[in-house]
Amino acid sequence: MAIFRSRTSALFLLLLVLLFHLPPLFPGRELEKRRVHGADMGLNSHRSVLKMKSLVPASTCNPPPTERVGSLPLVHRQGPCSPLLKERLQRCNSTLINLRDQSRINSIRRSLASSSSSSSSIGNDLPGTGLRIPVVGHLEGAGEYVVTVGLGTPRRDLPVIFDTGSPLTWTHCLPCPTQGCCPQNDRCFEPSKSSTYSNPPCPPNCNYSVFYADKSFSNGFYVQDTLTLNADYTFPNFIFGCGQNNSDGFGTSTGILGLALGDHSLISQTTDTFAQIFCYCIPPTYNRQGYLLFGFGALQQCQTNQYTSILSDQTGSFQYFIKLLGITTGKQTLNFSELAPLSSPSRTIIDSGTTISRLPSSVYLALRDEFKKEMSEYPVAQHLPSLGLDTCYNLEGHENVTLPKVVLNFDGTDVNVDPSGVVWRESDSQVCFAFAAKEKEDDLTIIGSTQQRNLNILYNIQANKVEFGTGSCGS
Ligand SMILES: *[C@@H]1O[C@H](CO)[C@@H](O)[C@H](O)[C@H]1NC(C)=O
Ligand SMILES: *[C@@H]1O[C@H](CO)[C@@H](O)[C@H](O)[C@H]1NC(C)=O
Ligand SMILES: *[C@@H]1O[C@H](CO)[C@@H](O)[C@H](O)[C@H]1NC(C)=O
Ligand SMILES: *[C@@H]1O[C@H](CO)[C@@H](O)[C@H](O)[C@H]1NC(C)=O
Ligand SMILES: *[C@@H]1O[C@H](CO)[C@@H](O)[C@H](O)[C@H]1NC(C)=O
Repeated sequence: MAIFRSRTSALFLLLLVLLFHLPPLFPGRELEKRRVHGADMGLNSHRSVLKMKSLVPASTCNPPPTERVGSLPLVHRQGPCSPLLKERLQRCNSTLINLRDQSRINSIRRSLASSSSSSSSIGNDLPGTGLRIPVVGHLEGAGEYVVTVGLGTPRRDLPVIFDTGSPLTWTHCLPCPTQGCCPQNDRCFEPSKSSTYSNPPCPPNCNYSVFYADKSFSNGFYVQDTLTLNADYTFPNFIFGCGQNNSDGFGTSTGILGLALGDHSLISQTTDTFAQIFCYCIPPTYNRQGYLLFGFGALQQCQTNQYTSILSDQTGSFQYFIKLLGITTGKQTLNFSELAPLSSPSRTIIDSGTTISRLPSSVYLALRDEFKKEMSEYPVAQHLPSLGLDTCYNLEGHENVTLPKVVLNFDGTDVNVDPSGVVWRESDSQVCFAFAAKEKEDDLTIIGSTQQRNLNILYNIQANKVEFGTGSCGS
């Protein structure tokens, strides 16, 4: 796949993008085409069946029969497909996940507050280099899914957390001046062992620091070296962070693959090749494998059929803002502007690093009540207050559970949440409704990774689109 490496081929790719994404000739057709996307495993139109067995963490990895050409496998960091040996098969502890989710939300809250009051908080342009140094308050850490990327020559394969909410890519790095900088020796980038390593042009210094609200952090310096994505694509002089002093909140993952917006994100650095297009599918279960695809490969192999616009007026943020108008469950459509007039539908982000979606509390409460009605045949179980999940059921002895469908009504498209994204599995018998209320009404509404499971989601940044597809990770 060496075809799209030069500027001319990037132009060609842009042409292709335009062809794939021509605006409708008749605007009215858009409305006719508007329909529900997502898994359709229905009993009847508003309910679907989920096999309880599919929620049980299996001990063997179940990769798809055929992988998409050029794709990077995307796997749960604690599932059997995970390259993070130490974390494999650990039980997901909801306390920990909530800690990560809540810190992330606090951190988004702070970074938005500071970026609206002062544009310099986004980072400082260093004279003559164009390189920006992230400052305190950036959103980092915490995702649950990993991909493996190659860095340096010979290339070292490093499992990193896949994060659409982070603008910076960084890795654990040797030599290690501090404790905890490199938890596993073979899983750290080692500049001195790479023949293609160099220092990026960033006088007077190349230091970076990222701090998280949960007090985890990474600091170090920027380096540049070859980035290899699935052997097919190599990017010489890719700039990323070489973490010298990292807290241990990242488990045995090696760092972060930052797929958010921003002048020095991976998306910006690979524009000539990928035209700012990527697509992923988050696996529906722990033992399945999803994928991450870039550029032409994403356009070609990631089936999508409807889109919502990326809102470009949310300046000063690296996040992908989209407009969520409502949520439908059972027979009830909940309208954001009616139920939560103070929570603008435009203040919604889609984020792979937050686990459980956060909704305005009035919307959440109405959604939950409707869900409860639909689930009245099942015995209730203890809440999981740590995760903000207050609607749980004991499904011991049930082979299948019949769930009401949940549809996210975005501006322009309705996306059917996969049944695996409607409930959170806490134990073999206990499941909980996998949505939560925002802590503060003016926090962002967040579409988290659980609700994104098993959907093809394509980001076409130059066209300002997030596209959704019916497909699934496995085919
Ligand atoms: C989850 O992890 C937290 C923090 O490590 C711990 O306090 C708690 O006991 C754990 N809960 C379970 C159910 O393992
Ligand atoms: C950059 O970080 C190094 C340690 O990694 C430190 O010695 C140096 O003083 C820092 N430079 C600046 C300008 O902060
Ligand atoms: C590592 O970074 C943390 C957070 O910035 C700082 O408190 C600590 O002193 C640093 N440790 C070393 C050895 O530089
Ligand atoms: C939501 O409510 C607003 C205000 O009443 C209305 O203008 C809008 O059409 C409604 N949206 C949907 C999807 O029903
Ligand atoms: C559960 O669903 C499967 C189909 O998905 C069906 O074959 C099976 O009979 C169902 N089990 C029960 C107990 O209803």
